[in-house]
Amino acid sequence: MPKVLISDKLSPAAVQIFKDRGIEADVKTGLAPDELKAIIGQYDGLAIRSNTKVTADILAAAGNLKVVGRAGIGVDNVDVPAATARGVVVMNTPFGNSVTTAEHAIAMMFALARDIPQANASTHAGKWEKSKFMGVELTGKTLGIIGCGNIGAIVADRALGLRMKVVAYDPFLSAERAKDLTIEKVDLDTLFARADFITLHTPLTEATKNIISADAIAKMKKGVRIINCARGGLLVEEDLKAAIESGQVAGAALDVFKAEPAKENILFGNEHVVCTPHLGASTSEAQENVALQVAEQMADYLLTGAVVNA
Ligand code: MLT
Repeated sequence: MPKVLISDKLSPAAVQIFKDRGIEADVKTGLAPDELKAIIGQYDGLAIRSNTKVTADILAAAGNLKVVGRAGIGVDNVDVPAATARGVVVMNTPFGNSVTTAEHAIAMMFALARDIPQANASTHAGKWEKSKFMGVELTGKTLGIIGCGNIGAIVADRALGLRMKVVAYDPFLSAERAKDLTIEKVDLDTLFARADFITLHTPLTEATKNIISADAIAKMKKGVRIINCARGGLLVEEDLKAAIESGQVAGAALDVFKAEPAKENILFGNEHVVCTPHLGASTSEAQENVALQVAEQMADYLLTGAVVNA
């Protein structure tokens, strides 16, 4: 009987799936790297979310490991080349949390447009600062989407429903797909020049790292608002801070940071910055979806060799 270790908090539904499929599943969360290294050799599969770091060192001790499954989209916490070199398949669940993450981006856009977190804190403090918080409407504004895959396309759909105009930059977006989505495919400089709000929905790669830098910000409209619910490394935090201080950027809503967990950050405390602690995928529905998907995919691979989303 194959054995799987679940080393991050996953919905209990995942354990049930493994059990139903005839796979033994141990749940051991919060393991230190040395503790994981000491036991990983017993397992055929490792199911993770964000906390477990699957390093080359851990993989070197994982003599029986055949598959790592991440209940989420990014596989940043897995050393994929090291896994591949050892014949370990790395899977993700690219669809299960897309709606939830898109909804968070839209929520962040509203929060930014209407200063909701700041107004909430002020009202709780008994200040009634009605004239301080003057927002902007979304209707009629242009949203620039950088990365128009699963999540970006859902954001586009919701933004169109809010009567925004949507332009998207994505080298992989075909003209036909853009037409289907009723959005305009543009190059990056055009997006920067036209967008009132910019939202990022691209993975962090060598091509996308620091895509929002001082140079990029200089090409944007004065007073642009930026939302990042993708990966912290897409944006140069120092450059964003300077641009907010100069007024070039009116504000930013950030769910992700260059270094996470972000207990400190140069943008913290800025009154024009709305922050959440990487909550993009954090709904009960999304977590159920990704846990079910990762367990099914891993079970398929361990029992039949079928590879999905690797
Ligand atoms: C993902 O990669 O799926 C998202 O960033 C969500 C997460 O890791 O919590």
